[in-house]
Amino acid sequence: MMEDFTAVILAAGEGTRMKSDIPKVLHKVCGQPILTYTLQAARQAGAQKIVVVVGNGADKVKEYYAQENIEFVLQSDQKGTGHALMQAENAVKGSSQIVVLCGDMPMVTSDSIEGMVKFHRQQKAACTVMTAKVPDPTGYGRIIREGNKVLDIREHKDATPEEREIKEINAGFYCFDTSLVFSALAKVKNDNIQGEYYLTDVVKILNQEEKLVVAFEIKNPDELHGINDRRQLAQVQKLMQQQIIEYWMEQGVTFINPDTCMVDSDVQIGRDTVIYPGVILEGKTKIGKGCTIIGPCRIKDTVIGDFCEIVMSQIDDSELDENVKIGPYCNLRPGCKLSSKVKVGDFVELKNTKVGEGTKIPHLSYVGDAVLGKHINIGAGVIFVNYDGYKKHQTVVEDDAFIGCNSNLIAPVTIKAGSFVAAGSTITKEVPENALAIARARQENKLGWVIKRRNKIEGGTKGDGK
Ligand code: UD1
Ligand code: CA
Repeated sequence: MMEDFTAVILAAGEGTRMKSDIPKVLHKVCGQPILTYTLQAARQAGAQKIVVVVGNGADKVKEYYAQENIEFVLQSDQKGTGHALMQAENAVKGSSQIVVLCGDMPMVTSDSIEGMVKFHRQQKAACTVMTAKVPDPTGYGRIIREGNKVLDIREHKDATPEEREIKEINAGFYCFDTSLVFSALAKVKNDNIQGEYYLTDVVKILNQEEKLVVAFEIKNPDELHGINDRRQLAQVQKLMQQQIIEYWMEQGVTFINPDTCMVDSDVQIGRDTVIYPGVILEGKTKIGKGCTIIGPCRIKDTVIGDFCEIVMSQIDDSELDENVKIGPYCNLRPGCKLSSKVKVGDFVELKNTKVGEGTKIPHLSYVGDAVLGKHINIGAGVIFVNYDGYKKHQTVVEDDAFIGCNSNLIAPVTIKAGSFVAAGSTITKEVPENALAIARARQENKLGWVIKRRNKIEGGTKGDGK
């Protein structure tokens, strides 16, 4: 069993370069705010407690995570990373060790955090700094080493030309012995180019006190992508998107052209499902085995059973059982529940509607606020008239009913089992079981009418038809 540690996530920075009214850490990558990834990694790595230092947009950040077990501390003026950690002193008192993470670096893995904590304990260090060697270290703090020991971290802006040659950089993630870091922080000054209290200066101070500072080098510098502007936001989105899609490919999902697809981090996909180009899978979407999804398609917060076929459609907040066929060009709005073998065809809109097994709505219909039984056929162009200008009303269609083309069902109304609505009917009252309902003007044929009319207008001479 690992000992307890508390994770402190620094997230008070201004994020000026985002040019945004939204706090930086709430900008989304693969469907989740940036900060969520760091929170998840910290939890997975074994953090017993999580403290988030907030400043800019603090209220919005707190509100977003109100349901979660997080302690927020406020850093009202952003005077540097060292100053940020100082604000957390009271909040972390219970733990002998803390892990410091950055709220704007969502690619860090729980494995790396856990590895750092283990290494810190093996080494019996006062401080462990996560580092990586990168081809272009511009902008990062450089690691100044003597063998295994880290003597100092030099910020890019404060570094000499020789120090700037160092390729090993400070990731901005650390493990500290709690009491030692706060006594060292008390000695940090802001006599540097940025006039900030650098957390990194703790390294030098601990060395002066003959405490051990070590580096935990990670091999994949991709984990260290930070987000400071929209360009970096897009870069991280791209990288994370690749990782997510590669993961699903490893689980047996085919992506015909992965670069054209978007799959959010919480989405799940069953094996042997084939995803065509241009498919967007968002939110808590869960797709079963052996499905075919042909883009352009957007599926959001929807559960789809096995062996479904979705073609060029939009589906939001709905549930589909197995062997359902959707599209092309369907719009399934929130609250739809389709049982197995349902078919919803081209140019059909469904909203808040339950559809029983084997029922077909093949063409050009609107079905809203309805409950449909099994094995019903809804003809082309049928409209469920659910709205009277003030309220929405329900329509019930029972098993085996047949609704003829271009009918209007004026809700609230019930079409009983096995009944038949003649094409072009406007149904305003209940249709009894096994009955035929015809609700349209009766056709009348007036024989010879065209000739009589022509004679009257043209006096017997045939017009040219123009
Ligand atoms: C920091 C490190 C640098 C490292 C880099 C890795 C310092 C002095 N330097 O630099 O060595 O290579 O991270 O990305 O620590 N923050 C606050 N309050 C503040 C200032 C910052 O909460 O007053 C938060 C920011 O929101 C951010 C994190 O701390 O999440 C890092 O701050 P940032 O200003 O980005 O530090 P860097 O200059 O990138
Ligand atoms: Ca940064």
